[in-house]
Amino acid sequence: MSEDVNAAPIKVLFVDDEEYILKSISRLFVDEPYEVLTAPSGAKGLTVLRGAEDVGVIVTDQRMPSMTGTEFLARAKEIAPDALRIVLTGYADIHAVVEAINRGGAYRYAAKPWEDEELLQIVRDAARQYELLRENDRLERLVRKQNEELKEWNTELERRVMEATHRLKKSFDDTLASFAGLLELRDPSERHHSCNVAAVAEALAVAAALPADEVETVRIAALIHDIGKVGGIDLSPNNAVQALTPEQWRSYKEHPVRGQTVVDSIEALRSAGVLIRHHHERWDGGGFPDGLRGASIPVGARIIALADLIDREMSKCRGANVSDLVLDAVRGEGSAGRIDPGLVPHARRVVPEVCSRAPRGAGHYEEEIDVSKLRRGMTLSRDALSGTGVLLLRAGTVMDGTTIAALARHSELDPSRTGVYVFREHSAA
Ligand SMILES: [Fe+2]
Ligand SMILES: [Fe+2]
Repeated sequence: MSEDVNAAPIKVLFVDDEEYILKSISRLFVDEPYEVLTAPSGAKGLTVLRGAEDVGVIVTDQRMPSMTGTEFLARAKEIAPDALRIVLTGYADIHAVVEAINRGGAYRYAAKPWEDEELLQIVRDAARQYELLRENDRLERLVRKQNEELKEWNTELERRVMEATHRLKKSFDDTLASFAGLLELRDPSERHHSCNVAAVAEALAVAAALPADEVETVRIAALIHDIGKVGGIDLSPNNAVQALTPEQWRSYKEHPVRGQTVVDSIEALRSAGVLIRHHHERWDGGGFPDGLRGASIPVGARIIALADLIDREMSKCRGANVSDLVLDAVRGEGSAGRIDPGLVPHARRVVPEVCSRAPRGAGHYEEEIDVSKLRRGMTLSRDALSGTGVLLLRAGTVMDGTTIAALARHSELDPSRTGVYVFREHSAA
């Protein structure tokens, strides 16, 4: 804002019923840097005030017919509240002075007849006072405006930061999904595992009342907990853990450390890397790679170990009571010293919920069907992949017109050797 306070001279209004007094005052102020206005009565003075903006000083005679100086000042105060008001009155008229101050809000009074120099000084003081008030007002307005601009700028900045954070988070999540997808591409038996473990681990971490940032670390670590298997031994179904040679078993046991090493160079994944390292530790100290025991195992790693167990049990169990079977297994492993027994109560809350979301077992069976047989409302039981292994839709997706059309289009471009897998409900009969 640029506002030159000296641009307009301060207006000073003199009101007196004696014409010659107004003339002599005008002469007295001719060399002063003010715009002098005059009025021969209170009523005329009010008219001048209404027409002239920004009158800074008002000087009025007290004794005037029809409207006294006090009455005039009281009304002038309503029109020009910021103007400094001065009343001219005789020495003996102390009552009028008190009235003028109390009713008319007079700034001060001057004796009549006046000494020229004294009247000049009184008006100069008032004009300076008015100028200070006006400048103060201008600065206040300026500060208010700048505060508003700052507020607007802050809001805009916040919005931009949120947008950028959202974009960064999305690209981070996409990168993680690609990592997980890489592992699943290499090892089809792991196809759902990463996402399932991430979902269960997140639910367990929330149930265990971990702070929000730790819940997120657990979710991220769980999503890529087996990333170290890339570059390790082949873990195809024909090469199950139980059937590994001692050499293969040694290599398999390296995958948590390899996983941590892979992500350690990414600062945002460093704390997740610690959980990845310890996701095969056992509560009783019999796990790997470091043989940590009990509470010395990071809680996030204990949660991922439990989520891993829950997912593997869920994929094995069939029937209407999957949730009970999984919980039996969890309790059994808790007693056997594999998992943290303190997490079992959280599993009791989380497992039924997870089982109800993923309808495998529980009255459902899986069926492979041709893409052309997909119907709205069907739920994918496995990820839908293109012929070259690109992930098209995640398991659990409920089909609608758009997703059916997308799969049909992809099956023409890059046809898969298999159909798509969906959940079917056992008939009641
Ligand atoms: Fe693992
Ligand atoms: Fe795993």
